[in-house]
Amino acid sequence: MSNRGNFSSKLGFILAAAGSAVGLGNIWRFPYLAGTNGGAGFLFIYLICVLMLCFPVMVGEIAIGRNAGSDAFGSYKKLGGGNWGYLGLYGILAGVLILSYYNVVAGWAFGYFLEISFGNLLDHQDFGSFFGDYVNDIGPLFFFSLGFMVITAVIVAQGIAKGIEAANKIMMPGLYIILIGLIIYSLTLPHAMDGVRFYLVPDFSEIHSKTIFYALCQAFFSLSLGMGCLITYGSYVTKDQNIVKSAVIISMADTSVAFLAGLMVFPLVFSLGAEPGQGPKLIFVILTQAFQSMGPFVGRIVGGSFFLLICFAALTSTISLLEVPAAYFVDQKKLPRKAVVWGVSGLIFVLGIPTMYSQGLVPFLNKLPFHNSPDFLSFVADLCDIMLVSGGCIMCLFIRSKWRVGSLNNELAIGNPGYVGSFVQGYINFAISWFCPVVLGILSILVIVDKYYGLEWLFG
Ligand code: PFF
Repeated sequence: MSNRGNFSSKLGFILAAAGSAVGLGNIWRFPYLAGTNGGAGFLFIYLICVLMLCFPVMVGEIAIGRNAGSDAFGSYKKLGGGNWGYLGLYGILAGVLILSYYNVVAGWAFGYFLEISFGNLLDHQDFGSFFGDYVNDIGPLFFFSLGFMVITAVIVAQGIAKGIEAANKIMMPGLYIILIGLIIYSLTLPHAMDGVRFYLVPDFSEIHSKTIFYALCQAFFSLSLGMGCLITYGSYVTKDQNIVKSAVIISMADTSVAFLAGLMVFPLVFSLGAEPGQGPKLIFVILTQAFQSMGPFVGRIVGGSFFLLICFAALTSTISLLEVPAAYFVDQKKLPRKAVVWGVSGLIFVLGIPTMYSQGLVPFLNKLPFHNSPDFLSFVADLCDIMLVSGGCIMCLFIRSKWRVGSLNNELAIGNPGYVGSFVQGYINFAISWFCPVVLGILSILVIVDKYYGLEWLFG
């Protein structure tokens, strides 16, 4: 295990795992989902999902990784034998698919950062149509997404401590500083408090079954669960680390950034008198309008900082997404790290090309023949959501029926003397054996029905 590399410190692992968790999911996806699903009601359900369902899954994944000391495939195979390795491959495939579209959206954000900071984006009048044109202007976008993938690969090729850990140590604190600065600014704007009210005062009549699906899928995505990312990172964790405590810190760091992103976005949206339910274009259209209203100089600084923040957040996540397949090839195929990283990132970049063309350039990719005619990007994103939630469910079944809850407890007790007999142990054991597999199993099926057929198909 020694030549695979390890995180050099406890903080290094926590920052890297929190960096993986904090990403476009928090700053781009969370606010627009909250905006379309009732604001505070969504936030409320989201917090319940994190606490009751995601936290035990996170602890389970890190424990599996540290105990087995291998990539996602190798860990399941080592602890479960036989076909359990395929569960790891399922996760690796989910990671590859996520990175293929994630890198495209990161390329949009990278482009917006450059266009706002150094170009004349803020001089435009209609940001809705600008965004529509922008995401179909393949030349520059190709270049921005490629640039993003290259930066990711350069960092991952450096290895665990020198690449992944070092980059996160700089970017994570930077991200918090920019975010807090932007919140303070947005709270001073007129009508900011209407946004705060929308976001923090729940209207329970706004909560529907779909709110629960979206919140659950978002929580899995945001915490990087269900695809072996934390198994892979867990395999680089030393035995003196307290896994339960680390998982609490990682979950809180991720949830706080999502929460703070909402606290920044909604006051801005309401200060413009705009609609919060705009979907994926929310931050690109509405926030850019808000930045314009700040005047050319302040707008450039605040808007540039905002998109830089998104790039930082996305980069700490793309790093972790690339590490999952990379670790598989390094551990299982014994290939050299650098060659693997460049090969895999090139392949994933190519896989993302249909996503780039899905925003209108190719009509078929823009309207696929499923319920609600999603574009290719939404189709892949939905598919990945399903893979994550079902992957989390099967991981619980793996611990329950194969690795055994006793082995999980033994691993969690290492580095955590008070664990055995504690309330936390009781909850984790109950959740992994019963609560999570049942709830995640039922919800996975309902989410599949909802995404591909529409829930009406089932319930009339
Ligand atoms: N958690 C990341 C985000 O919120 O943007 C996305 C992600 C990263 C998902 C890594 C899964 C993963 F393994």
